[in-house]
Amino acid sequence: MTDTAVLETTATRDEKARKAFVSALRRHVLTKSADRMRGHYDTVAKPAFEQLNGRAPADGPEVHRLMKKTRDFRFYSAVRSNAQEMVFGSVIPTVDRALDTLAEDGRALRADTAGVGGSLELNPDLEVPRNVSDIEVHRSPGSYHSEYTDDDVASGVVYETAIEVFAFGQFGKDFDDVGQTMAHYVRFRHPELEPARILDCGCTVGINTVPWKQTFPEAEVHGIDVAPGVLRYANARATKLGQAVHFKQMNATALDYEDESFDIVCSSMFLHELPNKDIRGYLAEAYRVLKPGGLLWNMELPPNSAMQPYESFYLDWDSYYNSEPFYKGFRDQDYRELVRTAGFADADFIEATVPRYTFMDESDFKAAVNSPTRFDKHTGRMDPKGTRWYGFGAFKRAPLKEAN
Ligand SMILES: C[S@@+](CC[C@H](N)C(=O)[O-])C[C@H]1O[C@@H](n2cnc3c(N)ncnc32)[C@H](O)[C@@H]1O
Repeated sequence: MTDTAVLETTATRDEKARKAFVSALRRHVLTKSADRMRGHYDTVAKPAFEQLNGRAPADGPEVHRLMKKTRDFRFYSAVRSNAQEMVFGSVIPTVDRALDTLAEDGRALRADTAGVGGSLELNPDLEVPRNVSDIEVHRSPGSYHSEYTDDDVASGVVYETAIEVFAFGQFGKDFDDVGQTMAHYVRFRHPELEPARILDCGCTVGINTVPWKQTFPEAEVHGIDVAPGVLRYANARATKLGQAVHFKQMNATALDYEDESFDIVCSSMFLHELPNKDIRGYLAEAYRVLKPGGLLWNMELPPNSAMQPYESFYLDWDSYYNSEPFYKGFRDQDYRELVRTAGFADADFIEATVPRYTFMDESDFKAAVNSPTRFDKHTGRMDPKGTRWYGFGAFKRAPLKEAN
């Protein structure tokens, strides 16, 4: 199948055509249908609401209640929802057919791991948390953790090949733009930080972990996740790319690492899949394992407080219709408060929206990094000029030196 996934499977012509169709369908619904729905809100639904109530809708849930009745929303929602199921439907049969071959290929690649310098440590006794095991996260059959054969890597292959269909080019040609952007942001924005150890939590197949190793080749890079199949695949994938990354099966709320042992703790697209107590548990652990002067940096969805009501409604769609129950709850949080509660100083909170590294010249990226934007002050959108990724975190303060 994929022309991109590290372990090869063989897709038929029909399967390739199905993937291309689903990708185009997603592009259509997220651009054309989304624009049409927005147009209906601006010109019909919102003015009618204002006339009736003497004010504009106050927040995302109010826009949601209003839009739910409209034909444009129902069309958008129905197509987007079906397209999501079709993403997995377009990749799973090909992976399913090659289950044992994939496991075998994974074993062969992992045999080279030591030569490359990476490692894989699974923990069969680890209890997979319910936010992964009890739901099919974003309608992914079997969620992240299911295994179907010995040494199974299927969940990893499905994840990477589904991204290819799902992202319709938005994550860059190697699907790793988020990791490339965030790692290069840190490199250019904080050149004083010369990390010796980096930890990526909730790394899945390591698509966005490997860029940290590529950006900071001297650093020892670790990726942890609770799901075994994605980690086996991550290890095979990094090995094939010649990148030494250490993958471990571990819960981010109970890290099996020493206090003050990392210079950077990062994550991407991770926190919105956690219940509130686990977000706080992870952040507290990140604080514990960071060295003084170290950096916490999470790429995530931006908070609802920065958004206008329509944008909140638009981003929170996944919480209602896409088996992402924690999405809205996370975005309703005050990220500064989250970080402060974990132990970081309030004044050390940082956030930025950053343009996509692999879509531009490095010199333009560097210039953008040194004048980062937050949000468009009128709409709350991150993309006044093209797509951007949002990140937030904090430096862990070094203890004050005692005066003698
Ligand atoms: C949306 S994916 C993250 C995507 C990945 N960081 C990337 O950039 O491609 C969320 C991942 O978090 C993992 N996960 C969920 N809860 C976790 C926890 N408590 N500790 C560690 N990993 C967890 C899931 O197994 C899943 O692989």
